[in-house]
Formats: sequence, C-alpha cells, structure tokens
Amino acid sequence: MKKIIIDTDPGQDDAIAILLALASPNELEVIGITTVAGNVPLNLTTLNALKILEVADKVNVPVFAGCDRPLRRKLVTAEHVHGATGLNGKQLPAPKIAIKEQHGVDFIIKSLRENESETITLCPLGPLTNIASAMIKAPDIIDKIEQIVLMGGAYFEVGNVTPTAEFNIYVDPDAADIVMRSGVAITMLPLDVTHQVLTTEKRMKRFANLGNEAGKIIASWVSFFEIFDEEKYGSDGAPLHDPCVIAYLLKPELFKGRKVNLQIETQSKLTLGMSVADYWGVTSEKTHPRNVMFIRDVNANGFYDLLTKRLALLP
Ligand code: RIB
Ligand code: CA
Repeated sequence: MKKIIIDTDPGQDDAIAILLALASPNELEVIGITTVAGNVPLNLTTLNALKILEVADKVNVPVFAGCDRPLRRKLVTAEHVHGATGLNGKQLPAPKIAIKEQHGVDFIIKSLRENESETITLCPLGPLTNIASAMIKAPDIIDKIEQIVLMGGAYFEVGNVTPTAEFNIYVDPDAADIVMRSGVAITMLPLDVTHQVLTTEKRMKRFANLGNEAGKIIASWVSFFEIFDEEKYGSDGAPLHDPCVIAYLLKPELFKGRKVNLQIETQSKLTLGMSVADYWGVTSEKTHPRNVMFIRDVNANGFYDLLTKRLALLP
C-alpha cells in the first residue's frame, strides 16, 4: 500500500487521475488532496476537487486549498482547454463536503513530519507551487519524501503553452526549478509520453459504456476536454496527461524512460519554463546530476485497459 498526496489543478484530466487513484484502494491510500491554481483559479480547482470526491463517493478524503498564484509570476490559466469552470462536461451538483481549514502547503509539511520517513509519495498534477513552497518553508521535509511522480515537462514533444514549455512547468518555472534541484527522487511524465495516450473514439466508447454514473461523467469531461487538442493537433482524441502519474504508480511496467539531467529555464523570455533534458548524456554526471527519471514511452493500450477496468469499479 502506497501513501500518496495528490496535488492538483482539476482539470478534467486531473479528475480522471484522482478517480483512478480512488478506484485503487488496495494499492494506493490517498491521504489527502491539495489544490493549486493552474488550469483555473484556486477557488475553482478546489471546488472541482470536492465534486470529484463525490463522484467517487469517497467523501472522507480530506481536501486542502493551497497556493492561489505562482511563487513569483502572474498566474496563467487554461480555461480555453478546460472551460470556464475547469471541469466543463456534465453539470455536477454543488458539493456537500467542505475543504479543511489547514493550508495545503501546511498539510504537506505536517503529513511528511508525522509519517515515517520516505513513506509518502507526492503526485503533483499541476504547477509545482505547493511543493516548492513546502520545501522552502520546511526544508527538513525534503529528505522525508519517498518520491515525487509528476505530470509536467516536455522535451522531444516540445511545448504546449509556448513553443518550448509545457503548461504545468510554464505556470510556475521557479517552483519547478526548486523541485528539480531538491535532490528528491523524481519521476516525470512529460508530454513526450502523455501525447501517446489519446482519448480515441473507441476508448471513449468504453468509458461511456462502463455501466456506472462515473463512466457517463468521465465521457462528458473528455468530450469537452478533447475539443481544443483535436483542433490544434488534428488528432483523434486528446492526451490524457495526468492519469499517467497514477497509472505509473499502479503499473510502472507500462512505461519506459531513463535517468537524465533535467533543468528548468527560469530567465529567458523565449524559452521560459522549458524542461531541458540531457537525454543523450552529453553532460558529465559530476556537474549535471541525473536528477530525473524522464519517462518517454508507454504501452497505450495497456494504459487504457488499466484505466477502464479500474474506473468500472466506481459508483
Ligand atoms: O500540460 C498538461 C498539464 O496542464 C495537465 O496537468 C493539465 O491538467 C494541465 O494542468
Ligand atoms: Ca493538471
């Protein structure tokens, strides 16, 4: 059983990642969800997190609102992809459950201090503002983190929000830089791999025909979420980015990657937020530590089989 904290900016793809984790109680214990500003402002990502828990009928998982803006820069959001609510698709009722009082950053710090060292995995699915803030506020927690498995970055696939940067990193490059330099074991699921798991027509039909309410809701989220990427890339469906993080925890054998030196551009206007991966090892390990497991390949059908089987277990 792996204890995880999901740090998230829902976001339809975040929502499916959260549902996948909640549908896997034998392998994953979601000890809390911390929300961050990203796809949409914090008030909406937080409201969406509560709604997602009610879809899964897992209302005891605590939700903590985190940072409402990046460490240093102005917030950039993505309503053009996710809709004005951030979770456009089937209209969901106002949640009956409420968030906890404690700030998300303080929940991350407290959880790491109170649990046995290296027993909690952090799963960031949005900008890394909360994670970096926790590291700044309480450096003692860095060595207590078992690993960070995050969705973000891009290298061969290049950027999705600028020609060189992926959205989660771009929104808060300073936070991403702090996390990548922290020395924590990091596995990155970048666009290079998430763009291989497209929500094709056939795969969407499997969601819609799951036979549960969750399947219908998920199909409605995806049919909204895929509009933007289908128009942009001319693809059949859109990449299901964030569920790759949870699928990696459940079945790492579906994925392939290598340890690389990875740095974040935090200064240049032209390439701000670029995740520069030394994939071919042209730098020396002495000066450029291999700080990130960069995942580049996935068995897409195996990913969707896992996802569909688990989501079928939801109400
Ligand atoms: O670039 C994709 C990432 O940005 C995903 O996490 C998506 O939810 C958005 O946050
Ligand atoms: Ca996200």
